[in-house]
Amino acid sequence: MIKYLNAIFIVSLKSMDNKKIQDKKNYKVIEHNLISSLPNSDKNYLLNLDKYIPNNDFFFEFDDTFLRFYFNVLDLELFKNKIYENLTNTYSLEVLEEIINQIVKIKSYGIKGRKRVYVDYNKERKVQGRKTKEETRGSIYYSQNNNFSKDINALPGEFLNKIIFGDSAEVLRKLPSNCIDLVFTSPPYNFGLDYNASKDGIDWNTYFDKLFEIFDECTRVLKYGGRLIVNVQPLFSDYIPIHHIISNHFMDNKLIWKGEIIWDKHNYNCKYTAWGSWKSPSSPYLKYTWEFIEIFCKGDLKKKGKTEDIDINEEEFKSWVNAKWDIAPERNMKNYDHPAMFPEKLVERVLKLFSYRNDIILDPFNGAGTTTLVAKRLGRQFLGIDISEEYCKTAEVRLKQLLSSFME
Ligand SMILES: C[S@@+](CC[C@H](N)C(=O)[O-])C[C@H]1O[C@@H](n2cnc3c(N)ncnc32)[C@H](O)[C@@H]1O
Repeated sequence: MIKYLNAIFIVSLKSMDNKKIQDKKNYKVIEHNLISSLPNSDKNYLLNLDKYIPNNDFFFEFDDTFLRFYFNVLDLELFKNKIYENLTNTYSLEVLEEIINQIVKIKSYGIKGRKRVYVDYNKERKVQGRKTKEETRGSIYYSQNNNFSKDINALPGEFLNKIIFGDSAEVLRKLPSNCIDLVFTSPPYNFGLDYNASKDGIDWNTYFDKLFEIFDECTRVLKYGGRLIVNVQPLFSDYIPIHHIISNHFMDNKLIWKGEIIWDKHNYNCKYTAWGSWKSPSSPYLKYTWEFIEIFCKGDLKKKGKTEDIDINEEEFKSWVNAKWDIAPERNMKNYDHPAMFPEKLVERVLKLFSYRNDIILDPFNGAGTTTLVAKRLGRQFLGIDISEEYCKTAEVRLKQLLSSFME
């Protein structure tokens, strides 16, 4: 009875949209038990708060013993500012802070500009009857019946946090199985680049035989639940979709294809000046400003790790799960005397989004050591291998410079 009277009180205090009150099922609700009543000035402010935050969708309901916050669409930052700026009573602030903390803990919501959508945000996209379909046809059909072991082995000390000069196929054979958390690499693309100690631009069968020999070793040394992430650019001009060929190989070997990121370099300066058949459908030539990042998992999509070893923040996570990354290409290749480096920013995103601090990161085509440098900077452990002694020396120098910057 008391609660009913209070509902009347609320409606009369503010000409609240009656429909909202009736349609409470369209809102998430957080309830807080009050130990004393909030001052009327604060109550009034909260009841009218939506006037100061237009196009959001929320409302308050309270009496002397409880406060309920109903919300559907919320610009949380603006909401927090309005609360902290305008409530003056200490107890009111305490109560609202508790409510805000509970909202922050809700991790599933849709994004609409600056606002979070808490109700029905994924209704349209939901695949119908997903569970039933999974029961009849299984999930991730190509990775079923894999026999990956869940054992974990330690990476021997002679390889831990080391840059190793050698052919990756041979070096990796010396490692035990299941000792690496994440592989991130960019293999030679067979474009004919001028690498210091390996030929680029060889017969395609020989190229793929060698590449898959190394990738199969990477798969073996990867822990169960580990990730194998490859940055690759197809040789568009020769119509060789390396990214598809590599992906098929991994899926044939029962790795799970987790997804694909478009790394847009916005490289409009690409050298192709001829556009195929100019202004004719006979054979127009497509132009690309991006490369691909293909992501695979061994055995499980989920990677276990300690919460305290997560270092990605909320803003980074929200932005980076959008699978198109705009990152400029590496501009300092001349300084490192390497023709095909990827930028540190790219490695930083991959490592923070897909690995935990202290994880062991492997790059079997480590080049000038961008992966190992960023791994060290982000508190990961690493192993970098390259067939060029010169590039390995560069990778070592970059690590030393990083260490001396830590000491400064
Ligand atoms: C695309 S580059 C990687 C560059 C690296 N991501 C960076 O930022 O410096 C490919 C590298 O693979 C190396 N490489 C080629 N064949 C190799 C092999 N069999 N074993 C180890 N490294 C190899 C090349 O020397 C070259 O540095």
